[in-house]
Order: sequence, then C-alpha cells, then structure tokens
Amino acid sequence: MAADKPNLPEFNPPRRILLGPGPSPVDERVMRAMAAPVLGHLDPLFLRLMDDIQALLRYVFETENRLTIPVSGTGSAGMEATVANLLEAGDEIVVCVNGYFGERMCDMVSRLGAKPLRVEAEWGRTIDVDKVRAAWKSSRASALFAVQAETSTGVLQPLAPLREIADERGGLLIVDTVTSLGAHAVAVDRHGIDGCYSGTQKALSCPPGLAPVTFSERAVAKIKSRKAKPASWYLDLGLVANYWGSERTYHHTAPITMNYALREALRIVAEEGLEARRRRHELNHRAFVAGVEAMGLKMHVAQNERLWTLNTVGIPDGVDDARVRRRLLEEFNIEVGGGLGTLKGRVWRVGFMGSGSTANNVFLLLAALEKCLLGEGFKIHNSGVSAAAAIYSKE
Ligand SMILES: Cc1ncc(COP(=O)(O)O)c(C=O)c1O
Repeated sequence: MAADKPNLPEFNPPRRILLGPGPSPVDERVMRAMAAPVLGHLDPLFLRLMDDIQALLRYVFETENRLTIPVSGTGSAGMEATVANLLEAGDEIVVCVNGYFGERMCDMVSRLGAKPLRVEAEWGRTIDVDKVRAAWKSSRASALFAVQAETSTGVLQPLAPLREIADERGGLLIVDTVTSLGAHAVAVDRHGIDGCYSGTQKALSCPPGLAPVTFSERAVAKIKSRKAKPASWYLDLGLVANYWGSERTYHHTAPITMNYALREALRIVAEEGLEARRRRHELNHRAFVAGVEAMGLKMHVAQNERLWTLNTVGIPDGVDDARVRRRLLEEFNIEVGGGLGTLKGRVWRVGFMGSGSTANNVFLLLAALEKCLLGEGFKIHNSGVSAAAAIYSKE
C-alpha cells in the first residue's frame, strides 16, 4: 500500500524576533539574495562568487590564509572538518572543556580514534591557563583546542595565553568561533590560530547551513603530511580545497543558494566594518546587562568574562523557566533560549547577534521580560528599560 498523498497548505512562519542562542535574525538583503536563480556549481559566475566569499571570509577572520572556505554544513560540520583533518588516530589533543561545545569536541575527537586530554572549568568560568599549561607539558599533544565563545555558558575565552602554551612545542591552536565571528575579535593571524571554524547563523546573521573555516600554513602542512586519509570523505579538506582552489574539481554539489546568502551577509559585515560591529555588540550587551541587573536579576558569568553575543541570565527562584519563555514567544513573538546541560532550568540564554544586536531589541526584551516576571510574582527592583536608556544616553 502506497502512503496517502498529503494535502498541505503553504508554510507561512511568523517573523520571530530571534534573541536566543541562534539562529539570529536575517537581514532582508540576505533573504533576497537567496531568491536569486540557481546557477550550476561550475558556472563561471558561481566560481567568481566563490572567490568573493573567500576574500570576504579572509576579511572577517582577519587572516591571509589561502585555505579559507565555507564548509557545506552547519557549525558542527566545520568543527568535524577541522579535527578530522588536523588529527590522526592516536594523536593527543588538549581540549578545554567549560561548556557543552567543549564536551562535543571531546566526543568528536574520540570518534576519530584520537585522544582528548580534558582541562575542565566550571560552566560559566574561563579555563585556568595554568591547568592548560600543565596538561600540555605532561602530554605529547600536537594540538590545543578551546571554544572562544561558549554559547552554552556565555563565556569569552582569551586566546593569547593559549597560543603561548602551544608555542612551547610548536603545537596547533584550534579555536571554535561559532558565536564570536562577526562580533568579537577573532583575529586569526594576530592570535596565531591554526584551525578556526565558525557558523553562519550567529553574528554573521545568515541562515544556518555553512561553516566558514580557515587554516594556517602550518595546519595545511600538517594536512599534506598525514599518514592516512581523513576518515570522512565529505569533509576531506584536501579534496574540498581542489574545488575551492584553482583546479575547480567537482567534489560535491555546492549549496548554491546558501553561498549567495553568505556572500550578502559578509558584504553587510564589511560595509559596517569589524570595529564598528564590535562596538555595537558591546554597547547593546552592556545596556542589556544594566537592564537585567537593575531589575534584580543576576548574570551567570562574571563581568570581565562575558560574551557580548550571548548573555546567560540567572532564573530567580520561584520563576518558571518554560512558562516565561513560552509567554515571550506567544505574547511578544520573542525567542530566547533555555539553559543547556548543567545550566538547564538555571539560566536563560539571550543572544544579541548580528542584525539582532540593536537598542530596539534590548528595550523590547527588557520590557517584555519585566511583564513576564511580574506575572511570576517576582519583585522587580528598578526599571530595566531606564537602566538601559542610561547606558545609551552616555554614548
Ligand atoms: C560554540 C558552538 N560550537 C559549535 C556549534 C555547532 O553549530 P551547529 O549547531 O551550527 O552545527 C554551536 C551551535 O550553537 C556553537 O554555539
């Protein structure tokens, strides 16, 4: 028996205000770019667009690395491509674990037959550099990994000390910049990052679907001198690079429309400029924090360790996490995220990323949150909106 033919209406989702951990709001220009006619993946015009994307990605990553491309797939594909190419079975890697994505990296590394050496910190704290140094010295690890922007906790990990440690033995520094690229300084060349991956759906404000990656000369040399081919055919960067490089050899059919979107999203980043973008993300973050703290809520992360893109706000005792998020969605059309892993039920994850990082969104969320918290019987200390306004008026 064949299945019945479904008779379904067109799917018309509402335009949500995406203030969670991602995806972030997508600019109209990017949506329009996605409506352009589909070209073939070897069409000369598409090949030119690929060159544009590489040039724009080098600007955003702040690197001269030749091997700078978008991997087809979400951030996790970039994550997997990076370690599947830079590690071989039996290799050791020091993995900083202070949240969900450090854990995910340990899982990926183990599946490759490599050995993750964990250096842990509490979820909501940065990694202690002395512990990293000790793990590095007492191992024969060839690589050191950290998440610059831990989306599960809201912590920003400083990178310069990690480079110094890896330099003690000429090791590779691998960094997750999924929630920092386009907002915080990733500065691949200045930080000496060898393998760096990101995603499109956070501070680049593009839909999910591609994973920008970039590799230093040292990383490329490592890939070229591998004893065995990477276990993954799809993510074998040697093969993928032949399509993105001068050879233009077919590897897989590029997701054409997603690449249109990324080009436009990166053009928007370049028009604003990285420095202006950083200032905007920082200012809206500061205004939001001033607002929630005035209301009597507590940030989960200490002031000097916070991301600008992702804020973890402690859920006060007696307040129902799920009910507040449901009301924000149903009454105000606003999405914020719940806690992951050990922070489930303990924090809200609020993202002001890319085109979502605006004063309008900060004011709207503070006012909406105030109403929801009043409904929960929480005693609001002072007006969050007024505290945020005071920050903006000082600028
Ligand atoms: C820090 C970090 N790394 C990796 C990922 C995985 O990216 P994706 O969900 O796009 O596969 C995410 C996703 O939120 C992330 O925040």
